Amino acid sequence: MKDRLQELQSEALEKVKQSEDLKALQDVRVAYLGKKGPITEVLRGMGKLSKEERPVIGQLANDVRESIANAIQTKQDKLEEKAMEKQLEEESIDVTLPGRPVHVGGPHLLTSIIEEIEDLFIGMGFEIKEGPEVETDYYNFEALNLPKGHPARDMQDSFYITEELLLRTHTSPVQARTMKQKDGHEAVRMICPGKVYRRDTDDATHSHQFTQVEGLVVDENIKMSDLKGVLNAFAKQMFGSERDIRLRPSFFPFTEPSVEMDISCKMCGGEGCSVCKGTGWIEILGAGMVHPNVLEMAGYDPEIYSGFAFGMGPERIAMLKYGVDDIRHFYTNDIRFLKQYHKA
Ligand code: DAH
Repeated sequence: MKDRLQELQSEALEKVKQSEDLKALQDVRVAYLGKKGPITEVLRGMGKLSKEERPVIGQLANDVRESIANAIQTKQDKLEEKAMEKQLEEESIDVTLPGRPVHVGGPHLLTSIIEEIEDLFIGMGFEIKEGPEVETDYYNFEALNLPKGHPARDMQDSFYITEELLLRTHTSPVQARTMKQKDGHEAVRMICPGKVYRRDTDDATHSHQFTQVEGLVVDENIKMSDLKGVLNAFAKQMFGSERDIRLRPSFFPFTEPSVEMDISCKMCGGEGCSVCKGTGWIEILGAGMVHPNVLEMAGYDPEIYSGFAFGMGPERIAMLKYGVDDIRHFYTNDIRFLKQYHKA
């Protein structure tokens, strides 16, 4: 029995030595130390031994077990350490490798222009207002001195939703909404940027959806010269101090008198070229003195209050400022176009 135990011991130790991974080691453990293993079997036969032999063999069996178990544990520690080293080696980071580029987006050109316009007017004491894109016929037309059947309604082909509801064709309804909010006796100095919709066929200069920035100032003693001063300051800050402005008579139902504002052509400096079609001037917005009917409908007494209003298209301003030749670039999201206007 003694010999058998020693034989098992050297056999097991040899197998432990040969085990190259944790799985093989586990097999050795089960084979030699398990309940059905040969050592257990030897112990089971102890009953046949004499009284003197029993403790000696018992002690030996325990020693053999322990030495095998220790060998397995030592080997297991080694294998685990090796596995860990291998993993660390595989997962090690090469800090000298170049990093993956992170793509950083930026505001859309139109967003940047609108923010620039907002900043300019905030600097002149204006507040920023918003209004609904689904508008009532009343605010979009009637409150702006365009009663039903008025021929000037045809100037703005509209998307109607019901008889009384439409997608706003301009940001001017926000004039009426703002004045209504102010209860007819507070001064107003606001601009309203936002989306507008027209039943136009898209081409290089038309888009069925585009943006506008509306402006409105109402107070006592507001004069045409105030309008001119504000728009001049705006144009010079937006396009450069060397640019001139001029106001031409025009017509809008909600202003009287009405004007259109031109800025001198940057390309030719006013000489006349293909960009300004030989005139030396480029039209950038519509404006005028708020029509007394509009003031009155919004609850302001036109005998006491007067005001001016203007409306401009940020797309047109961006096109002029950056030489963009097609309004559709703003809406087709070609990343090559958009990227050119990302500020670093
Ligand atoms: N609402 C006009 C349009 O869409 C633009 C405009 C012109 C707005 C004159 C105004 C204004 O406030 O005074 O064509």
